[in-house]
Amino acid sequence: MLLLVWSIRLTVTASCPMSLQYFPMDRQACSIEIESYGYSMRDIKYVWLNGNKSVDVQGDVTLPQFKIMGHEQESAIAALTTGNYSRLICKIKFSRSLGFYLIQIYIPASLIVVISWVSFWLHRNATPARVSLGVTTVLTMTTLMSSTNAQLPKISYIKSIDVFLGTCFVMVFASLLEYATVGYLGKRIAMRKSRIEQLTKLADEHRKKCAAAAAAADAAVAEQSAAQAPPQLICATTGLPLDPALQLPCGIKNPVHHQGNRCIGGPPPKMVYGGCPQKMNSRILEAKQSGKMMNEASSMTLGGGGGPGNQPPPTPVPFGPKDPNRMLGVSPSDIDKYSRVVFPVCFICFNLMYWIVYMHISASSSPN
Ligand SMILES: *[C@@H]1O[C@H](CO)[C@@H](O)[C@H](O)[C@H]1NC(C)=O
Ligand SMILES: *[C@@H]1O[C@H](CO)[C@@H](O)[C@H](O)[C@H]1NC(C)=O
Repeated sequence: MLLLVWSIRLTVTASCPMSLQYFPMDRQACSIEIESYGYSMRDIKYVWLNGNKSVDVQGDVTLPQFKIMGHEQESAIAALTTGNYSRLICKIKFSRSLGFYLIQIYIPASLIVVISWVSFWLHRNATPARVSLGVTTVLTMTTLMSSTNAQLPKISYIKSIDVFLGTCFVMVFASLLEYATVGYLGKRIAMRKSRIEQLTKLADEHRKKCAAAAAAADAAVAEQSAAQAPPQLICATTGLPLDPALQLPCGIKNPVHHQGNRCIGGPPPKMVYGGCPQKMNSRILEAKQSGKMMNEASSMTLGGGGGPGNQPPPTPVPFGPKDPNRMLGVSPSDIDKYSRVVFPVCFICFNLMYWIVYMHISASSSPN
C-alpha cells in the first residue's frame, strides 16, 4: 500500500438539486462527490484521512440566502458495469434565511390585503374609489406573485410561498367581489323601490278615477230617485240630513266628509269604474292612512277588465319582504359591516395556521 500526498487547488461551480416544497422555509443538503473516473477499486481506494474532521468549513464563510448548518462526510462504493469505484461524499446542510422574503414578499402582500379592506369602510356609492381600490390591489398581487416566481426555477409543484400569495390573492379578489355584491344588491333594491313608487302612483290615479266615476253614478241615481222620492241622507256624526246637492260617495272624495261623516241610508252605488267597487276604494284610503300603501298597492292588480260585476282579488298577497331596504334579509350596508369583521378574522386565522404549520414542518423535516 502506497500513501500518496497530492495537493491541488480546484475551483468548482457545483449545482445542487433542491426540493422547494417548503420554499422559503426550506432546508437543503448539497453534496460534493469525489470519484476516480479511470481507475476502479482494484487500483485506487479513497478514504477520509481524519474521519469526521477531514472537511472543514471556514467560520467566516457566509451566503446571502443561506445559513450553513453543518456538514458530514461519507464514503461509498459505486458499482458500475466497468467495476467498483471508490467515492467520497461531503454533504453540506443549508437553511434558507427568511428575512429577505419576509421583507420583500410576505409583509408587502399582507399590507396589500389590509389595504383592500379599506373598501369596506368607504361609502357604498363611492364606486370609483372602491372599484379602483379593488382592481389596484388585485393587480398588485398579480405583479407580486409573478415577480416572485420569476426569480425561481419553473417548478410544477406548489411552494409554501405560493400558498401564502395565493391566499392573499383570493382575499383581495374576494373584497372586490364583495363590492360587486354590494353594488348589485343596491341596484336591485333601488329598482324595486322605483317599481313600487310607480305602482303607488298608478293606484292613486286609479283611485281618483274610481271616485269620480262613483260620484257620477251616485249623482245619476240620486237624480232618478229625486224624481220619485226625496233622498234621505243622514250624517252619522251630526244626525242631520245632508244637503241633497252634496251627492258625494261617502268617505271618498272629500277628506272632510271622509273624516267624520258617514252617510246612512244613502243609495248604494250601483255602477263602478273599471274594477273598483266601494270596498276597494275604502281599503285604499285606509291603507294610505295607516301608511301601508306600499305593500297594498304593489300587490294590487290594476286595470283588470272593467265590468261592473268585476271583483278585485279577494286577498291581496303581500309583496316582497317588509323592509324595502333589504333583499333576502340583508342590506348592502350589512354586507359591508360583516366584511369589516369577517375578512380580518379570516386573514389572521390563516396567518396563524400558515406560520405554525410551515415552521413546524420545515423544522421537523430533515433535508434530503
Ligand atoms: C464521526 O464519525 C464517527 C465514526 O468515524 C461516527 O461514529 C460519529 O457519529 C461521527 N460523528 C458525527 C457528528 O457525524
Ligand atoms: C463490487 O463490489 C461487490 C460488493 O460490494 C462485489 O460483489 C463485486 O464482485 C465487486 N465487483 C468488482 C468488479 O470488483
